[in-house]
Amino acid sequence: MLTQAPKGTRDMLPGDAYLWHDLEDKMRALAALWGYREIRTPVFEHTELFQRGVGDGTDIVTKEMYTFRDKGDRSITLKPEGTAGAVRAFIEGNLANEGLPCKMYYLNAPIFRYERPQAGRLREHHQFGMECFGGKEPTVEAELINLLMTLLREVGLQNLSVHINSIGCPECRPKYHAALREYLGNRIHDMCETCRERFEKNPLRILDCKEEKCKETVKDAPSILDYLCDDCKAHFEKLQALLAAQHIPFTVDPRIVRGLDYYTKTVFEIIMQSGREGLALCGGGRYDGLVAQLGGPDTPAAGFGIGLERILMEIKNAGAEPEAPSISDVYVASLGSEMIAPAFTFTQTLRALGVKADCDLCGRSLKAQFKYADKIGAKYVCILGGDEYARGNAKIRDMCTKEEKEISLEAVGQTLADMLK
Ligand code: HAM
Repeated sequence: MLTQAPKGTRDMLPGDAYLWHDLEDKMRALAALWGYREIRTPVFEHTELFQRGVGDGTDIVTKEMYTFRDKGDRSITLKPEGTAGAVRAFIEGNLANEGLPCKMYYLNAPIFRYERPQAGRLREHHQFGMECFGGKEPTVEAELINLLMTLLREVGLQNLSVHINSIGCPECRPKYHAALREYLGNRIHDMCETCRERFEKNPLRILDCKEEKCKETVKDAPSILDYLCDDCKAHFEKLQALLAAQHIPFTVDPRIVRGLDYYTKTVFEIIMQSGREGLALCGGGRYDGLVAQLGGPDTPAAGFGIGLERILMEIKNAGAEPEAPSISDVYVASLGSEMIAPAFTFTQTLRALGVKADCDLCGRSLKAQFKYADKIGAKYVCILGGDEYARGNAKIRDMCTKEEKEISLEAVGQTLADMLK
């Protein structure tokens, strides 16, 4: 128990750090290119923010939040998603005054959901998310989807499909809800308990049920797309034209409804064709009403969130991991215990020259030091000691070709730095 991480959580071990860093570097570079700046919000917020923002009828709020009372008796919740916190910060920081659109991203944000852990579903995961405030045009969603597809292709993922839908707005959605309830009629009694609960509160979510019998029942249900008002319809058509013009293949999928209540008009998910059913790589959409609903100025907005663990899982499945960098490029071996201190000092010199270098900290034999140098991927071993050292020289061994040469102690640091350039 003591040496086991809590269920549904994962360590990022040092051996995997380069994979995370590579992904994070690519995300930051793309965000900067697209004009998004970073925002960091607290790991916890007032519970009410999620109840009102995400929706108190959603699975996330009713079943999955990590909520507790702090010592001041406030109800606090660990972030179960990133959008509500970003909206809160947008309002509190008066960011609308800085000019719109206000484009922001969060990276590595820890997200907590009490879900049943399985591959790709954790209780703590980390998200890269982007939110764009102030843009009402579908170019916003087209930009977000384009960025996502660029990112996913750049990290080596293929067979991706973009699924888009429009779930309408407060004007047209109630008409669809009524039509859906009418269709479900008596059929609802044969559906699962969750669907029965959703019937009154949020019938749209019934379309997302993964139970076979429920999927069968809604197969011929009316489509939201036939109920969109003129504005929502025009918006959705423009988005499709924009995606087509950018050569982004997409599928219109009226079954995409998303599990959070704030969405209006566009919703989208990116799915790996080879991935598990029901496990989207990424999800997002437009939420034009949320800023005003939480007390801010009336501001249209859209965004997405993507789980870093989920992308890394797919990168590994696809065998698309980048090559692991060496831990140190030069290993300074000491021949005899009297050389430990000179080797240590020389290692600092190499580091000051910008060379990734290391030396023996464990009092190992020369043979064991070479074994270790191999393990950390050192390109060169610089040996200090013996006759060479007595002559004022050091020996360098190229770990790949096994060639060795002797270089004066004064010149060896710069020589290694030059060889590694
Ligand atoms: P979401 O679809 O709930 O949307 O989550 C976004 C992404 O986070 C998922 O597609 C998946 O990659 C990852 N994810 C979600 N739950 C888990 C989990 N239990 N374990 C591992 N990864 C997970 C949102 O959170 C919205 N805030 C997205 C958004 C931003 N919409 C507009 N702006």
